Amino acid sequence: MHQPKWLDTAVFYEIYPQSFNDTNGDGIGDFEGVIEKLDYIKKLGCDALWINPCFESPFMDAGYDVSDYLKTAPRYGTNDDLKRLFDEAHKRGMHVLLDLVPGHTSVEHEWFKQSARAEQNEYTNRYVWTDSVWESPEGMGCIRGISDRDGSCAVNFFSHQPALNYGFYKPDPSKKWQQSMDAEGPRATLEALKDVMRFWLRAGCDGFRVDMAGSLVKNDPDGEGTIALWQNVRAFLDAEFPEAAMISEWGEPDKSLRGGFHMDFLLHFGPSHYNDLFRCEESFFSESGKGDASKFVEKYVENLEKTDGKGLICIPSGNHDMDRLARSIHGENLKIAFAFLLSMPGAPFIYYGDEIGMRYVEGLTSVEGGYGRTGSRSPMQWDDSKNAGFSSDDTLYVKQDEAEDRPTVKAQLADNMSLLNEVKRLIKLRRENKALGNLGGIEFLNAGYPLAYLRSAEGERVLVIINPSDSEREFTCKYEIDRVIYSIGKGTYIAVGNKVTVPPRTVLFCTVK
Ligand code: NOJ
Ligand code: CA
Repeated sequence: MHQPKWLDTAVFYEIYPQSFNDTNGDGIGDFEGVIEKLDYIKKLGCDALWINPCFESPFMDAGYDVSDYLKTAPRYGTNDDLKRLFDEAHKRGMHVLLDLVPGHTSVEHEWFKQSARAEQNEYTNRYVWTDSVWESPEGMGCIRGISDRDGSCAVNFFSHQPALNYGFYKPDPSKKWQQSMDAEGPRATLEALKDVMRFWLRAGCDGFRVDMAGSLVKNDPDGEGTIALWQNVRAFLDAEFPEAAMISEWGEPDKSLRGGFHMDFLLHFGPSHYNDLFRCEESFFSESGKGDASKFVEKYVENLEKTDGKGLICIPSGNHDMDRLARSIHGENLKIAFAFLLSMPGAPFIYYGDEIGMRYVEGLTSVEGGYGRTGSRSPMQWDDSKNAGFSSDDTLYVKQDEAEDRPTVKAQLADNMSLLNEVKRLIKLRRENKALGNLGGIEFLNAGYPLAYLRSAEGERVLVIINPSDSEREFTCKYEIDRVIYSIGKGTYIAVGNKVTVPPRTVLFCTVK
């Protein structure tokens, strides 16, 4: 499988477009706003973007309820504006991933409206329908009683998101409505998906972050059907768009990579233990020193082995679905958490605003299907002007952090010791040391406090030692430290034989002999 060269060194920035930068004063971010901030993102050190869904939608799930895959949401701008964004990014040597939502549409999508009609038509089998309104699809929610079609339609997430029909891996022969993957309807759905990809790749996007990539084929407990489906997509991309990058929201890298994805996201739910590090009562990166990274490390190493040592697992700083990093990790410890995030294999992903420690806004009523996620989706804080420079409008579509001491880009750019400047330095360090890069190897040396691992690539080796706790910690190191090339915190290490002691709240990047 071909991997686009730029992905080898990419550092991503995730943009939730409605909350990033509003340039026409309607209280909602837009494409022009992203274009305006490309230089900021580039200077931060990121050279790739993931933009959350920006297509026409009733926005009952923030745009993950697409009503037209081929048209941008007017509130963000036109298709041509999005193409301009691609061009402006490319001019700066940056790449752009769009968010592909292949598993479901909005109930307002024309495909669904046609599919819900009693008369047979081209879209009758585009979604997963049972044969009778009285029969619901087992194990899935459903939509029923809303149209003349005598059937219930399976849903994929919220109850307004009908499941597109890619077939069943093992259809139950007693249920005629369960179609096999190679039946006409599911094959047409897959071709329609390829048409969507073709459309945006031709328009200039560089690939996709794929929503819920592991859940397309139904009755597919081991994912074999879904893997085969993505291999089919891979063959299409290899033939027509070999430079397209594919990153999955799957959470099982062995399966995802077999399906032809280049990288897979680590998920904040399921077995990854990612949130043991960042978002739990005693998170590993908080100063309490009572966290536990061992289950995360165990699972991570297991995944590495399953993927042939290819560390193509992306660990995001956060995203639009989880609490802001700054909800559980504070002050200097945020820098320490970033030192970890920016020294792991796979492409790093920084969620907009995490680089300045934007806070989770407490107590918000759900906006656009966000529910508890809404507090992590508040407008970006740029400067000290009205609405922190996000918009000139009096009514923002979602509330902003109104605290007087809310962090802003402007203030942090001016402060050499800020989180923002630390993140910049860490990305620079990653770029200057191949061992720390996306494709470098990793060997964990200690999974307690301090967390220690050796990164390596092309003969270069960098030992990373991270002690987020407020006490001195020691570990047995099988490598002899040569020198510290970068550090966070005040002290340095003490080595006696193979025992290495590090001061509290310290990160050390070292070469080894
Ligand atoms: C995962 C997305 O990240 C989330 O925001 C969305 O609600 C669901 N998929 C459904 O598409
Ligand atoms: Ca706007």
